[in-house]
Amino acid sequence: MLLSKPESVLVVALVIHLIGAVYGSSATSDQLALLEIKSKITDDPQGALTSWNDSLPFCQWRGVTCGRRHRRVTMLDLRNSGLVGSLSPYIGNMSFLRYIFLYNNTLHGSIPPEIGHLYRLKELSLSNNSFTGEIPANMSSCPKLRKLNLQFNKLSGKIPDTFSSKLMITYMGLAKNDLTGGIPPSIGNLTSLEILFLTYCPLGGIIPDSFNQLKNLRKISLGANGLVGAFPSFMFNLSMLEGLDVGENKLQGSLPSNLCLTQPHLTYIEFGINHFNGFFPPSISNCSELETLSLSFNYLKGEIATNFGRLQHLKRLYLAVNNFGSKVLDDMNFFSSLSNCTNLERLDIGDNQLGGVLPNSLGNFSSKLSLLETSPNYLSGSIPSSIGNLLGLTAVSLSLNSFTGFIPESIGKLQNLQVLYLSDNHFSGVIPGSLGNLSLLLKVALDGNSFEGTIPSSIGSWKKVIVLDLYGNKLSGSVPKELFQLTSLSIKLDLSQNNLSGVLPQEISNLKLLEILDFSRNRFIGELPSSLSSCTSLEYLDLSSNLFYGSLPGSFSSLKGLEYVILSRNNFSGHIPTYLQQIPLKGLNLSYNNFEGEVPVKGVFANTSAISIIRNTRLCGGIPELYLPKCTSTSSDSKRQTRKISVRVIVAISLSSTVAGLALFSFVLFYCCIKKKRDKPSELRLAESFEKISYGRLFKVTEGFSAENLIGTGSFASVYKGVFEENGITVAIKVLNLLRRGGFKSFMAECEALRNIRHRNLVKVITACSSIDFQGNDFKALVYDFMPNGNLESWLHSVDCTLDLVQRISIIKDVACALDYLHCRCGNVIVHCDLKPSNILLDADMVAHVGDFGLAKILSLEEGSYANASSSSIIRGTTGYAPPEYGLGNEVSTSGDMYSYGILLLEMLTGKKPVDPMFEGGLGLHSYARRALADGCMLQIVDPVLLSEDVNENCLISLVKVGVQCSNESPQDRMDIGTVIHKLFGTTFASRS
Ligand SMILES: *[C@@H]1O[C@H](CO)[C@@H](O)[C@H](O)[C@H]1NC(C)=O
Ligand SMILES: *[C@@H]1O[C@H](CO)[C@@H](O)[C@H](O)[C@H]1NC(C)=O
Repeated sequence: MLLSKPESVLVVALVIHLIGAVYGSSATSDQLALLEIKSKITDDPQGALTSWNDSLPFCQWRGVTCGRRHRRVTMLDLRNSGLVGSLSPYIGNMSFLRYIFLYNNTLHGSIPPEIGHLYRLKELSLSNNSFTGEIPANMSSCPKLRKLNLQFNKLSGKIPDTFSSKLMITYMGLAKNDLTGGIPPSIGNLTSLEILFLTYCPLGGIIPDSFNQLKNLRKISLGANGLVGAFPSFMFNLSMLEGLDVGENKLQGSLPSNLCLTQPHLTYIEFGINHFNGFFPPSISNCSELETLSLSFNYLKGEIATNFGRLQHLKRLYLAVNNFGSKVLDDMNFFSSLSNCTNLERLDIGDNQLGGVLPNSLGNFSSKLSLLETSPNYLSGSIPSSIGNLLGLTAVSLSLNSFTGFIPESIGKLQNLQVLYLSDNHFSGVIPGSLGNLSLLLKVALDGNSFEGTIPSSIGSWKKVIVLDLYGNKLSGSVPKELFQLTSLSIKLDLSQNNLSGVLPQEISNLKLLEILDFSRNRFIGELPSSLSSCTSLEYLDLSSNLFYGSLPGSFSSLKGLEYVILSRNNFSGHIPTYLQQIPLKGLNLSYNNFEGEVPVKGVFANTSAISIIRNTRLCGGIPELYLPKCTSTSSDSKRQTRKISVRVIVAISLSSTVAGLALFSFVLFYCCIKKKRDKPSELRLAESFEKISYGRLFKVTEGFSAENLIGTGSFASVYKGVFEENGITVAIKVLNLLRRGGFKSFMAECEALRNIRHRNLVKVITACSSIDFQGNDFKALVYDFMPNGNLESWLHSVDCTLDLVQRISIIKDVACALDYLHCRCGNVIVHCDLKPSNILLDADMVAHVGDFGLAKILSLEEGSYANASSSSIIRGTTGYAPPEYGLGNEVSTSGDMYSYGILLLEMLTGKKPVDPMFEGGLGLHSYARRALADGCMLQIVDPVLLSEDVNENCLISLVKVGVQCSNESPQDRMDIGTVIHKLFGTTFASRS
């Protein structure tokens, strides 16, 4: 059957021709596809595609690579080219394509599904563009795909859940998109997967069980994915793992005590901002390659018991905002071992319960250490002078501890220092002149100590400083003129509450960028320099309680940005300048001076709540509400005009919050900033931790506590909504009504109760304000996370109630968890004393948070008995929810809370308030439910709204039983919270929805 020679030549020629035809036409189609791709590019600033024209064969076009023999496009590489436009579906026609690199351009529109036809495709990198729409589902079927990188786009919808176990994908990067709908379990089929980056996609859901098949996984980043549920323990068995990042989720669980034994190659462990609890794993010292350990913002407790000395590569150690330590000296035993970590750069142990001292070995720490953050804790002792060895330090915060002694001179050696926070300790002695060597300092806070002597003139070399806080010390003498040369001061200069004296020099005009100037409560004297008018950035000027005299210079009219001016308690005289009417002031306090003559009526003077002018005996006129005498043409006659206006003494509006130890305002900023720069949380926290909140600021964010922002009123307080313009964060501000008897006590109770507790089902206090308002009254407020879904009361009893059974059970569980924490898990025993629907707030995800600790009582654990010694004759709590024994003057106890919880539970299931008229005279909600249980007619008492669903009667019955047993009349017969938790989570209701 052999062909003769000429025939075979013919056949070969024919075959070649045919192949040529096939290739030829496809090659043409590649060229066509490339031109189509080019036609969709609307801007090519770098001329990346100028070579794409007929003068060159397309295989020689820039970014195009062809196979040597078949001349088909195998690679398209236009990375970093600044291309703007969309991606043509024609790309799917280049069937020989193996590599597509289009990352770092500005391509928008959707990813063409035609890419899914490229069955030879090995790598697709479209990261760092602006692609929108969904990830084409068929992409997961490119059989040869190894690397898929779509990070940093705007992709939305679900990740396809069609990954088959035949695929060999090793790299998948989808981070920084708007992908939702959970992590698809089929990713677990990709047993070759080594790297998975999903960070910053609001996926939600859980970590799928199928992930336990990912035995080759080396790096996994699931940070900020909105993940919930238990962190699966198999993740600690993936022995190839080098990087594990699940930070910023709502994951629960504890860290295994053998962490690192099975995963010795971990270089980073990021568990920060989650709900992890339990203890620090001592075995961490086995991760000898560890560079980053972040456990911040969890509920970890106990001893930090490990030898860090074996972690030679450790660079970043973040343990802040947990409950480590127990305020005793031993808490810092771990610290010295860090001196062996020769690569340590950042160390944040702030916001724990750590007692102890900074050991002398601090001086042996890595010279690379740049951040040292310990605030707040319970550290004591003095700063070891060896700190001067740590030449790499750029930021040190020792604030809000109990440090004592002098600042060592050696601190002046820290040439790189930019941030120095020593506030709110017990430091004494003089401010060492050597601090002047620190010419890079940006922020300095030494306030709230006992520093004495003069302000050293050497601070004149702080040429970059923007914040200087020295208030609340014992500094004396005059202010060195060098301070007025610090033209960089832009945010704040606060020297208040010292014994400083002397006059304000003309050079004050150098402070042109300064926004807050507070020299109040000192002994400054003399007339105000007219050059103060050059400080045109001033927004807040407080010179109260000094010895200033003379009249206000006319040049001040140029200070158009002023919002608050407090000049009270000086000896100013002359007329109140009329130009003050033109400045858009929000607060003006001129009281306790010798101003005379006519009070203007416009601008700020039209608003009695924004001004105070009392104790100026020779004023007249003004708006009628001021009750001043009319001005006569000869206004020389001075009669006493101290009328009883409602305002009392106005003292300086203190910028400081005296409630130390509470979570600082920094939390807000931290959460806001961390979205942008996750890897530097500590720095941000440190940087902002002194932006304490003032009355003025709260006044501003609530638009003057306006009625539109009022979201609720209670017995002791009004709650306002406020928005911080600078970061868009919404908060709820609870302003205590201190005139009501008990208001102050309620504030203190709440502060005390909330000081050290944090739980996902408790309302979180962001900061507190303890200050004085513009009328001179004490002002106390607490700032909370805003709960967009309001309180449970309004959900339960509104006409169009939409809480279904699943939601109600979820809330019932949430409240149980909160009580469990308060009664058993927060160190003390805290009795809430006022549990009721209006005190249960719902966040955006309908997660319940127990709030209002105004009646809370802390029972000390040591007393053994949960009953408190103080005999309480006040009726606690709210009628209907308070247990019967409180009415008899009994002491508060956890079983009292259980009663309220039981009533709450019954109310949620029956839809009946305990004070419903039907319960008048005898039969209460408890008996009503118990009787229905006994009679087996549960469905008759259940909230009709719930009956429209397919309810499981047994489930309802079990729940009502819990409610009934909690609300028994006799405290001894009530369930405790442990049993309730067991019932709710044990078996019956374990699975949600
Ligand atoms: C992205 O591309 C631009 C040029 O368009 C280049 O300047 C920049 O460095 C690239 N970015 C990265 C991260 O490669
Ligand atoms: C892939 O994973 C999913 C879910 O884990 C599973 O249902 C499916 O059968 C798997 N497919 C293959 C082809 O292995």
